Amino acid sequence: MAQAFLTCIHPSCGRREAVGATAPACAACASLLDVSYEFDRIAPADLRRLWRERLSSPASEDRSGVWRFRELLPFLPSTVAPVTMGEGGTPLVEAPRAGRWAGEVRLSAKHLGSNPTGSFKDLGMTACISAAVSTRAEVVACASTGNTSSSMAAYAARAGLSAVMLVPHDGISKAKLAQALEFGARVIEVRGSFDDAFRLLGELASRRSLRVVNSINPFRIEGQKTAVIELLEQRGWRAPDFLVLPGGNLGNVSAMGKGLRELAALGVLDRLPRLVVVQAAGAAPFYRGWASRGTIEPVAHPETEASAIRIGRPANWPKARRELEATRGLVECVTDREIEEAKAILASDGIGCEPASAATLAGVRKLRSTGRMPPAAEVVAILTGHQLKDTDYILRHQGSSESSRCVIEPDPDAACRALDALRVA
Ligand code: F0G
Repeated sequence: MAQAFLTCIHPSCGRREAVGATAPACAACASLLDVSYEFDRIAPADLRRLWRERLSSPASEDRSGVWRFRELLPFLPSTVAPVTMGEGGTPLVEAPRAGRWAGEVRLSAKHLGSNPTGSFKDLGMTACISAAVSTRAEVVACASTGNTSSSMAAYAARAGLSAVMLVPHDGISKAKLAQALEFGARVIEVRGSFDDAFRLLGELASRRSLRVVNSINPFRIEGQKTAVIELLEQRGWRAPDFLVLPGGNLGNVSAMGKGLRELAALGVLDRLPRLVVVQAAGAAPFYRGWASRGTIEPVAHPETEASAIRIGRPANWPKARRELEATRGLVECVTDREIEEAKAILASDGIGCEPASAATLAGVRKLRSTGRMPPAAEVVAILTGHQLKDTDYILRHQGSSESSRCVIEPDPDAACRALDALRVA
């Protein structure tokens, strides 16, 4: 039987606790926790076959792109059924125009926006809410730039838990707020940044009985790591040269790295891709910290139009650094203008995504132009959120252009003039 533990990540602590412990951090030194395992020994070929066979199973656990890989996340007691909504199973699509634009790389996009609530957070939330149910939590809570909160709200509703979210007032998109409200979450809008909301949540959780489901909750990482397993399966277990993702609170890169290391340790993967984190220039503490190889200096007033990654004090940076070191990773930052351009180029391949997700492509282009990524490299960009998560952004940037939009009376001559004005051949 596989065994699961909670292990402090601090090298000089390493304290181990039972997997049912509910504190959000190490009880001895307050560092981040990992879920660590003694896995059952299964031959790599058998694991791959088992995972593939489940694709044609009618059981909801097998149809979930998280729980289909449950041999790599064996932390739930067998008496607890996962809270699942068919998350995962997201497409990997080639993006040829974007690849050429970025500097002649072979680019595909793994679109995690095709999840039940429209972002990668669902992969983590199915794991984390299932763990919360197994340890009898009643109220779950998060600070969020909008996607974590929509996802929490949906999975909490499904599990019959109450959900509370702290979000920056006027700092998240309307669509994300609407999703969470529909799922019945209680919304506290904080006059401040995401970082202020996150700090406040910590203080609240020490006074009231709340289960924090931000990505410092190690079960979130367990669910999110399956994105990389599914991606490699879709590629016939051939690793790309680079795996690129946007960085905010740095949970997702931590998850990808852990997944990759575990696959390699089990012999399922023989070569690791290099992880690349891309931050927005106005919210890039990890980029700067990585460049100086020191601890990170928080950014007091993070600024970017990509509101999902408007974070100045990323909680998971020690884990992110560990995973970048393990994969000879890179960190880049890009301006809002570069993100806007990249998003438009992805759209020309028929691929829509959130602004934060488009930072990946902008980052690839920058790495190519500075020679840190070779031409013809095989690159997978992780697109983290759905295009419709932030339609205000699109309307701000595309909606005002007279060459793409006009208003007319219902009259055929006016319609013809409109075609000319819009330059439709
Ligand atoms: N992309 C999107 C669309 C996101 O919503 C987030 C984070 C990220 C990228 C960055 O991922 O934090 O793991 O480095 N959103 C969080 C939220 C912070 O509250 O929804 P990360």
